[in-house]
Amino acid sequence: MVTAVARRLAAQRKEIDAVLEPFLLSPETLREVKNKMRTELEYGLKRETQGSATVKMLPTYVCGTPDGTEKGKFLALDLGGTNFRVLLVKIRSGRRKSVRMYNKIFAIPLEIMQGTGEELFDHIVHCIADFLEYMGIKGARLPLGFTFSFPCKQASIDKGTLVGWTKGFKATDCEGEDVVDMLREAIKRRNEFDLDIVAVVNDTVGTMMTCGYEDPNCEIGLIAGTGSNVCYMEDMKNIEIVEGNEGKMCINTEWGGFGDNGCIDNIRTEYDKEVDEGSLNPGKQRYEKMTSGMYLGEIVRQILIDLTKRGLLFRGQISESLRKRDLHGLNPQEVCGAVSRRAAQLCGAGLAAIVEKKRENRGVEHLQITVGVDGTLYKLHPHFSRVLQETVKELAPWCDVTFMLSEDGSGKGAALITAVAKRLRNIDKYLYAMRLSDETLIDIMARFRREMKNGLSRDFNPTATVKMLPTFVRSIPDGSEKGDFIALDLGGSYFRILRVKVSHEKKQTVQMESEIYNTPEDIMHGSGTRLFDHVAECLGDFMEKQQIKDKKLPVGFTFSFPCRQSKLDEGVLITWTKRFKASGVEGADVVKLLNRAIKKRGVSLVNDTVGTMMTCGFDDQRCEVGLIIGTGTNACYMEEMRHIDLVEGDEGRMCINTEWGAFGDDGSLEDIRTEFDREIDRGSLNPGKQLFEKMVSGLYMGELVRLILVKMAKEGLLFEGRITPELLTKGKFETKHVSAIEKSKEGLSKAKDILTRLGVEPSHEDCVAVQHVCTIVSFRSANLVAATLGAILCQLRDNKGVGRLRTTVGVDGSLYKMHPQYARRLHKTTRRLVPDSDVRFLLSESGSGKGAAMVTAVAYRLAEQHRLIDETLAEFKLTHEQLLQVKKRMRTEMEAGLKKKTHDTAKVKMLPTFVRSTPDGTGRLWAALGFPEWQTKFVLFLQKLLGGCSLLN
Ligand code: BG6
Ligand code: BG6
Ligand code: GLC
Ligand code: GLC
Repeated sequence: MVTAVARRLAAQRKEIDAVLEPFLLSPETLREVKNKMRTELEYGLKRETQGSATVKMLPTYVCGTPDGTEKGKFLALDLGGTNFRVLLVKIRSGRRKSVRMYNKIFAIPLEIMQGTGEELFDHIVHCIADFLEYMGIKGARLPLGFTFSFPCKQASIDKGTLVGWTKGFKATDCEGEDVVDMLREAIKRRNEFDLDIVAVVNDTVGTMMTCGYEDPNCEIGLIAGTGSNVCYMEDMKNIEIVEGNEGKMCINTEWGGFGDNGCIDNIRTEYDKEVDEGSLNPGKQRYEKMTSGMYLGEIVRQILIDLTKRGLLFRGQISESLRKRDLHGLNPQEVCGAVSRRAAQLCGAGLAAIVEKKRENRGVEHLQITVGVDGTLYKLHPHFSRVLQETVKELAPWCDVTFMLSEDGSGKGAALITAVAKRLRNIDKYLYAMRLSDETLIDIMARFRREMKNGLSRDFNPTATVKMLPTFVRSIPDGSEKGDFIALDLGGSYFRILRVKVSHEKKQTVQMESEIYNTPEDIMHGSGTRLFDHVAECLGDFMEKQQIKDKKLPVGFTFSFPCRQSKLDEGVLITWTKRFKASGVEGADVVKLLNRAIKKRGVSLVNDTVGTMMTCGFDDQRCEVGLIIGTGTNACYMEEMRHIDLVEGDEGRMCINTEWGAFGDDGSLEDIRTEFDREIDRGSLNPGKQLFEKMVSGLYMGELVRLILVKMAKEGLLFEGRITPELLTKGKFETKHVSAIEKSKEGLSKAKDILTRLGVEPSHEDCVAVQHVCTIVSFRSANLVAATLGAILCQLRDNKGVGRLRTTVGVDGSLYKMHPQYARRLHKTTRRLVPDSDVRFLLSESGSGKGAAMVTAVAYRLAEQHRLIDETLAEFKLTHEQLLQVKKRMRTEMEAGLKKKTHDTAKVKMLPTFVRSTPDGTGRLWAALGFPEWQTKFVLFLQKLLGGCSLLN
């Protein structure tokens, strides 16, 4: 009898063990889960695979953890966990930093969780109204942080489109909608109070921030509660779906969806499948359904039902026996233990994958990191946290992970995020006029296109602001140039003299030696004679150093100011721009002035934009635009001769120096100029002129930022209202400072150094704010250049009559080169504004001097060719008598050829061709007769050549 019972119990035991066996995961299985999770994380980050990844890796637009300088009074909502809470959070910064919170929990009835979206949000607003009443703060329009613990696609911190409900929510008409808008509309519907919704935040992110306030090493947030999820700080360069490579952004992994593609089906049991099928979202959140509080009890219940059905429990009576706890041979804890242990282990395996990724990102052998954790499962279950931690340790042994329990919920973290976001939003509002929409940029592009047209037309050029100056440069170098040249490069940050040797053995090579010379301000602002004497002196010094004093090398003169040219070796300065203001030069030919100062020699005058285009054209034959974004800004491009009214001839192309710096001088940019732009202009050497340049270029950008900072400080928005004499000094804040402050990693510490040198004691928040101001100003500059450049690209595209433009833009200038984000922003906006183009931006590595030398070389090559042609044709030159003789003989022969009688014996046959009209000069006839294009050109060339020579007289 006893043995029979024992045998039955043993058999039952075996069956129970068999049921629970799939819940025991071996270390290999867990490692496999970790690896699969790792793969999914990568898929979620990559643009190509993101669509099909089960771990969505949602960008949150939270770019840093708290640093203790946040402050203010905020409302927070916390929806999606066990409780719905409304909170008031008061944050104090500084040495006595503290956070005080008041909150009230509200119920959300099931019928509302699963009713309509409108009902749900009306209910939420009803609870807020109750809370505001209760706290006596109904009149205050407080900033609000919204913890919304569901997957949201975000494009900014204050927008979140619900991807899909999870856990116990299933309200209609919400998926695919922006939950911030829904909340705003519900507030409007109630029409009792107003709130400023600043941030929407996942609970994992809120938790990371709550813990990060205490421990700066906290860069991961884990929720093991009703649902299961993780967020962590990812390097921007790894987040393909968000533009930019600098810094970090928090990623909400939404790992609950891991396995939705079947990749962990090998470890899912029939009970998991049962639970899934009975859930609100079958097939979805498979990993969450194996690991989170909402589902564990349900898995246990399914197992118990199965065991009962098999007669192993409750004598086969399901509902009655469950209550009686009549459990033969089974400790119910055993089932619960197996299920929760598996949950903790799976969670640990997932977390190990995240920790391992963090370690690789940092490139360290040993990682120390803190994980902020919240959730009822983690907090209340007796073993969950221990098993989870052990698993992480085992699977990521090289990481030292500290688990920090969040005591204050996600609301606190959401308020901290709101504090930072609110500050930046205030600045955005303050500098609203500097943030240009694509619509405005497209409009500016159209305006500039009109300016270009005016500048090119003979009638409008005299009054046009954008001068569109012909440069007499007709092509980029063709690779056959050679020679030894001097280049002068005046007008940018430096005055440079170069010797450029272009040799041509198998391949064309350029050798350059250069020297920078100082140009003191009193020379820039003195008399023109002194300025050119200074140039001559420096040149003398350079030639001495080069031991070429006696050589008369041709000179390429890069003179980076607007000059009206009628040939390559002449140029009348229209007006000084940028830093220069020497007297007696405006209206004079600068080549003459130069030649007077140096012993006369061949000089080609070249604008820096043209020099840059030529420099880049040397490496890329497709280069047909030269762009400068440095001390000043300007661009040149190759225009069709037929569009250039100011130069005779319609054949081929010529480079046009747009002088776009003057765009807006006629008031056409007044709608986008700000009070700061006007102040910059008033304080400049050339008020009322170069207004576009003053919004864009390096000579003005630092000063623009300084003026904004002064005004913000005066209004108490920065530095607690402190203003120092240094901050008030013109020129103390330079464009190189803007570049330093916008650097990704050191930017904020640079800001601190620079502002400290200006005598203000900036808080971290001040530094973030100043960085934001710099970003807005430099972004505006890049956007404006993208618009004007876009106009040039459209012109090129239309000139070529192609649907899609392929071209290269040669670029130079200190702002473009030194600013960490400028180039990328410019490229991106340009491509967005001119989508039907493939534009290559080629950085000029060797300055405009090389290009100026190339222009000179081309001019010398052409002069040499003309000389050779003249020499060759000399042999064919006949005397007048000889020609008359030929004419007479030819006349006789022709007549003989035309007459029937003499035709057969005539030497000139005069054969009829049946062509009945004459060429109209365009070559169309030749083409119509089937001559290939080059032959047509050749014939036209011959016509021209012969037309100009005395042979046919
Ligand atoms: C808390 C949050 O931090 O943790 C909640 O404030 C969140 O909003 C919760 O969802 C997770 O725990 P649970 O167990 O309530 O889902
Ligand atoms: C370089 C030129 O190409 O770019 C300079 O050689 C030119 O002469 C300059 O003016 C523009 O840059 P910056 O920043 O020196 O004004
Ligand atoms: C669910 C939600 C997720 C949340 C988690 C924890 O997985 O989709 O957004 O973070 O639950 O609450
Ligand atoms: C100024 C000059 C222009 C030059 C540009 C860049 O705008 O007027 O000629 O190209 O600066 O240096």
